[in-house]
Amino acid sequence: MNDVMHFSAGISVMEISYILASVLFILGLKMLSHPLTARRGNILAAIGMILAIAATILFHEKEGKPIGNIGWILGAMVIGTIIGWVIAKRVRMTAMPQLVSFFNGMGGAAAALISMMEFPHVSQELMMRSGMANGHVLAILLGLVIGSVSWAGSMIAFGKLDGKIGDLRIKALRYVNMTILAGIIGFIVYIMTRDVAASAELTHLIIILFVVSVLYGVLFVMPIGGADMPVVISLLNSFTGVAAAMGGFLYNNQAMLTGGILVGSAGTILTILMCRAMNRSLLNVIIGVFGGGGSAAEGAAGTIKEITVADAAVLLSYSKKVVVVPGYGLAVAQAQHICHELDKMLEEKGVEVKYAIHPVAGRMPGHMNVLLAEADVPYEQLVESDEINPDLPNTDVIVVIGANDVVNPAAEDDPSSPIYGMPIVRAREAKNIIVMKRGMGKGYAAIENLLFYNDKTRMLFGDAKSTLQALVSEVKAL
Ligand code: TAP
Repeated sequence: MNDVMHFSAGISVMEISYILASVLFILGLKMLSHPLTARRGNILAAIGMILAIAATILFHEKEGKPIGNIGWILGAMVIGTIIGWVIAKRVRMTAMPQLVSFFNGMGGAAAALISMMEFPHVSQELMMRSGMANGHVLAILLGLVIGSVSWAGSMIAFGKLDGKIGDLRIKALRYVNMTILAGIIGFIVYIMTRDVAASAELTHLIIILFVVSVLYGVLFVMPIGGADMPVVISLLNSFTGVAAAMGGFLYNNQAMLTGGILVGSAGTILTILMCRAMNRSLLNVIIGVFGGGGSAAEGAAGTIKEITVADAAVLLSYSKKVVVVPGYGLAVAQAQHICHELDKMLEEKGVEVKYAIHPVAGRMPGHMNVLLAEADVPYEQLVESDEINPDLPNTDVIVVIGANDVVNPAAEDDPSSPIYGMPIVRAREAKNIIVMKRGMGKGYAAIENLLFYNDKTRMLFGDAKSTLQALVSEVKAL
């Protein structure tokens, strides 16, 4: 490193930039945990990333030579930025989980590519020095395997969420997967224990390791039920983080290491939290069969009672406490703005309106928070489902808008139900229940919902947006 670029303590500008970038990543991640600060957190982390990239391009040196291929690097960055920008700008809110999965897959692919490119160099260098494989080779192999699994798995998850790929529920696949995984571990041990002098011959083994890892990624995600996809995406996200951290270790790059570790640990924590929210173990998610299954409630239904828009407007306007349960249908209908308009009108009439936020309502973590933040619903009105549940018996009307599974009593009553044990918003405990949906369509878990047949329930059929618009006009006229 250039003398000018060194401070007296021997720390280079590059190292300082990496430390700064790491601090920005950590601060950004912390700010992402609250909707009020999330946008700024995202910007901070992005600045950290720009700083790390710029420092690497400007100050990185190997054997006294600056980084090469600048034209290629900048060209790839410009093309990648344009593609990423356009996709992210155009994506519909409801397709966000697919996008997250796709972008995550790209991270895994990048980590795997780094390993593929670096293996011949590192093994040759080591051969000259010691003739033995070491931690660097292990980091490369792990980066390759984990990155490839993450890439292939994320692409399958993307296809599933986009409705292009169905589930492949074959029990034997579980054993095939375990065998492949054991094979991959054996393969890594084999490469590690070989004399690296034979690196030329080992290079083609790396290709085989890549192909087998991709196969494992595909077969690992294929049998997992559609509704469990967010958990899987979060798990794959943590894999990508670990694979990137391997790259950081390999290049002795602190920013890459910190970034990778942060993504790895945040992904793992999110995975655990989501499993808890559904009251299921990770193993159960991976080998379980959630979604598509029947329920004991099936066929045991009853009669449906409807309510008119005018009656619903009166009921809501003369209530003291109203709780809205937003769900996936609200997002599909893009009815968040009109929903907020209704709640403001009711509040003007002296009605207290809260939103019950279920952790897995919608199709991605924090989906309802993001959706309602978009409509400027104040955060104080959003209450986590387990916090609002004790208050529901005192609630005059609960309005379920485009939600289904997250209010399904089968989760508490029916041990044979695939969602049994998942904490729910206990809508049936409210004094009156209004359910807004287009028809009797099922939710993501594809099971019957007895809440719709409850004595206290009145269905308000129609697209959430048009129904809410009609409701707003009625409430205004009262
Ligand atoms: P769902 O159970 O999926 O139910 C959504 C309901 O919205 C449907 O029953 C549908 O009924 C109705 N709907 C659809 N379009 C509508 C529209 N335009 N207007 C009005 N209603 C409409 O939603 P939920 O209660 O939010 O539960 C989420 C489910 O997805 C859970 O099973 C969860 O595990 C799973 N999941 C969650 C995530 C995360 S992390 N949030 C990710 C993936 C999957 P109609 O067809 O009759 O209208």
